[in-house]
Amino acid sequence: MSSDDAVHVPKGYGAEVLIAWGDPIDGKAPRFDPQARNSAEDQERQWGQHNDGMSFFPLPRGSNSSRRGLLVSNHEYADPGLMFPDGFTEQNLTPARVRKVQAAHGVSVVAIELREGRWRVVDSPYARRITGFTPMELTGPAAGHELMQTAADPDGRRVLGTLNNCAHGVTPWGTYLACEENFNAYFGTDVPGFDTARNAVMRRYGVTARGAGYRWHPHDERFDIGRHPNESNRFGWVVEIDPFDPTSTPKKRTALGRLKHECATVVLARDGRVVVYTGDDQVNEYVYKFVSRRRWVRGKPVEPQRLLDEGTLYVARFDGRGRGRWLPLVHGQHGLDANAGFADQASVLVNTRRAADVVGATRLDRPEWIAAHPRTREIYVSLTGNPTRGTDNGPPVDGANPRRDNRFGHILRWREAGGDAAALEFDWDLFAQAGNPTRTEESYKGDIDGDAFACPDGLWFDAEGTLWIQTDIPTASIGTGVYEGLGNNQMLAADAATGRIRRFLVGPPGCEITGMTMTPDARWLFVNIQHPGETAGEGPNKPDPATWRSHWPDGGQSRPRSATIVIRRLDGGRIGS
Ligand code: FEO
Ligand code: CA
Ligand code: CA
Repeated sequence: MSSDDAVHVPKGYGAEVLIAWGDPIDGKAPRFDPQARNSAEDQERQWGQHNDGMSFFPLPRGSNSSRRGLLVSNHEYADPGLMFPDGFTEQNLTPARVRKVQAAHGVSVVAIELREGRWRVVDSPYARRITGFTPMELTGPAAGHELMQTAADPDGRRVLGTLNNCAHGVTPWGTYLACEENFNAYFGTDVPGFDTARNAVMRRYGVTARGAGYRWHPHDERFDIGRHPNESNRFGWVVEIDPFDPTSTPKKRTALGRLKHECATVVLARDGRVVVYTGDDQVNEYVYKFVSRRRWVRGKPVEPQRLLDEGTLYVARFDGRGRGRWLPLVHGQHGLDANAGFADQASVLVNTRRAADVVGATRLDRPEWIAAHPRTREIYVSLTGNPTRGTDNGPPVDGANPRRDNRFGHILRWREAGGDAAALEFDWDLFAQAGNPTRTEESYKGDIDGDAFACPDGLWFDAEGTLWIQTDIPTASIGTGVYEGLGNNQMLAADAATGRIRRFLVGPPGCEITGMTMTPDARWLFVNIQHPGETAGEGPNKPDPATWRSHWPDGGQSRPRSATIVIRRLDGGRIGS
C-alpha cells in the first residue's frame, strides 16, 4: 500500500508513460510547454487533460492487430489552476483562456504503434481532438424539440462540444461512445434574480446560477443559463464517435437518456438487438438500459439501422431477495404523461431522472462503471459509495444498498432472465462490499476476500474474464479518516468466479486510477492515471510548484500531468495470467 510519487506495478511487470496532458497527438502538433504557456489552438492539437474512459481499436479497422491501433480516450475535466503560468483566478480569466480549458476537455484519438518493443504515438490522418466546442449533431427523439432549441441553434439539432466525458463504451460496429457526466458544472449566470430553483429540470440535475467555479459564462455566453437556459439541456447525453473517420460529426444519441452518464456498456441481446447499460453517477441515482428497436445486421451500413436512435430506455428496480425488473421510460406509460409534466417522449428523455423517479426505480449508492462478463453474461456495476444511505439525508438501507453510511462502496451484479440482455427481469446479488477489515465499525469492514480497497469506480472485464477494478477515493480523503491505511488509489484484479481480489497497481498521490484497455493479445495493458497531485481544495490558483503534491510523471519540480501508461509483463506473457 504505497503513498509515494510513482506508479507501482507488481514484480515482473513494467510500466511507462505513453502520452500525457499537453503532448502532441501527431507529428505536426505543438509540443507541451512545461510552463503551461500553450495556447488554446495548441491545446486543440494536444492530448487533453484528466484522461478517463479509453479503448484500443486495432488498425487496420476490423483486424486483430496488437501492434498498431487507435487509442481513444475521454478527458473528463480540466484543472485550470494547472493550465496557466499564473494559475487560475476569476480575475485572470479571459475568453482565450476559457477556450483553452474547453479545448482540454472532450476526446482524443491518437494512432499508436509497437516498434522495437515500445509503444509510441505516430503521425496519422486519424489523429483527432474532439473538444468542448467541436460541432456535433443531436439525434433521436429529443433532437429538434423545443427544449433543445437555442438562439444559436433555433433548429435544436446542432450543438458545440462534449463535456465531462467520464467512462465510455464501444459498439460492435467499431465506434466509441463518450459519456457526458457532470455537465452541470460548466453552467452559471450572473443575471440578477435568476433562480434555478424555479426550473424543475435544472434543479434535478444540479444546474445552478453559481456553477462549479469554471466561470465560463462571463466569457462564453452560451454557458449563461440566465440568457440561454436550454443550452444545458444539450448536455448530459451519450456521444457516438467514429474514430476511423476523422471528418465524421459526433452524434449525441438522445434515445439513451439524459443523466450524469458514467458509462455506456454495449452488449447484444440474443436476437441481435443492441443493449446499452448506463449508470447515473450521483448518490441515490439509478441504473438504466437501452434496448434498440432493430437487430444489428453485421456488415450493413449502420446509420440507416438507427440502432441508437430508436428503442426503449428502461430503469432498474432492485426488489428484495435478489429479484429485479426493468421499468420502461415511455411517454404515456406508468404515469409518464401530461399530468406529471411530460408532454411527449422528448420531455421524458430530457428529464430522464424525474421520469425514473415517477416509475419507482431503485436509488443506488452512486452508480459508476458497468462491465459485462464475456462468458457468463453477468453484468457488474460499481457503486462507489453513499454516506447519506440510512441517514436522515438519504434513503433507508435496502437489499441492493445494504450498508448505512456507505463510505467504501460495493459491486453489485445481475443476471438477465434467460441470459438475454433484452429481458425485462433479472436476478441480482452482491459481488463484493469494499472495506477495511481492520476497522471496528460494522459499516466499514466490508467482506473482501483479498486486498482492502475503497470506492470502486472503473470496472472492466478482459477477454479471460478477469474483472479489473479501479478506485477513486475522494482526493480530500485519501489516507485519512475511514480511509487511513489504504494508501493511494489503486487497481485490482478480481476472479469473478471465486470473488478473490488482488491489488495490481498503485498510483501517485492525489490521483484517481480510471480507464483501461488491452491489446487483443492481452500482452499490453493501457491504464489512465487521472489528476495526480490533486489537492483537497481542488482548483483555483496553483502557480507555485511547492504546493503541488505530485510531480508525476516528469519528476523534479514539474507540474503534475494526467497520463496514459502502458504496462507489460517483463517475460512478454499475457497480463493477469
Ligand atoms: Fe467521472 Fe463517475 O466518475
Ligand atoms: Ca468514474
Ligand atoms: Ca468516481
